[in-house]
Amino acid sequence: MTYQIYEWLRQGKTSGGEMGRRLNISRAAVNKHIRKLRECEIVIESASGIGYRWIKDNAVNEYGVRYHLRQLKREINVVFKPTESTNTNAKALSMDNSEDLLVVAPYQTEGRGRLDRKFISNKGGAYFSLVINDSGLPVATVMRTVLVAGLAVRDALMDYGIESELKWPNDVMISGRKVSGILLELIASGETADKIIMGIGINVNNQLPDELGEVATRLADYKQIIDISELIAKVISKIYFYFHKLRSGHWIEIKDKYLKYSYNLNKTVVSGGIKGVAKGITDEGFLIVDSNGKENKIITGDVNLC
Ligand code: BTN
Repeated sequence: MTYQIYEWLRQGKTSGGEMGRRLNISRAAVNKHIRKLRECEIVIESASGIGYRWIKDNAVNEYGVRYHLRQLKREINVVFKPTESTNTNAKALSMDNSEDLLVVAPYQTEGRGRLDRKFISNKGGAYFSLVINDSGLPVATVMRTVLVAGLAVRDALMDYGIESELKWPNDVMISGRKVSGILLELIASGETADKIIMGIGINVNNQLPDELGEVATRLADYKQIIDISELIAKVISKIYFYFHKLRSGHWIEIKDKYLKYSYNLNKTVVSGGIKGVAKGITDEGFLIVDSNGKENKIITGDVNLC
């Protein structure tokens, strides 16, 4: 019911009496739902004779995420709560769930990055994990999904007029600083990935620690107001868009697009003792580095510009 009231407010409906009638509840009960929405930092004006008016969402919340996802032609369960790590949470919840699942958190206490690193996840950022069931993707090419997630984040930022680049394998960069990271985890039986857990963190309004000052950035420095619920929904729908392409044999198109926005391509990079020029991406999604004519395949690890 709270979601229905939120949706009506977003559509410009104002009358508490009318909402109550349609839901078969009293005006006082409608007001209780309004209070619940306000507790989520949703700004709703009210005036006698006029009714309620949605003004803005000041923080990410489950109603906003569901509202912005409503056009997705796909059943997806949304779970919203502060957590240690949305990836850890999503993995656990997905065990008894055969539908796709989106776990969103306003902050994380133990946010995880690649290579067992911490991902600092203060309030004000976008932290979410999408579980895609029955991915049908071969484990051998699952790296392609990380690239797809990067492209989805890039496209979503472009919707706000923010240009970004993709640093292989999993970082989204603005002006040479990381704005988003992706952590992909798998549940596989045999050669096929049964469940893909795509964890994405985007710095939006969150406070970044001083030590990350030179290497990280946040969207608030480029665009003042971004509704995080809307941003998450945009990324999710773009992930499905690319995922569909991936499953219907359009990998080369995706790869070309990824390379077009690559941060490392044709630059000298170093990774795990290998130094050379990043020349492309293999069909598995690995990075090709040319060191004096010798082609190396970088499968994992950090890749830094020299
Ligand atoms: C990286 O940069 O190494 C990857 C960072 C991934 C962070 C996201 S935030 C949502 C999800 N939950 C986690 O614990 N990690 C991912």
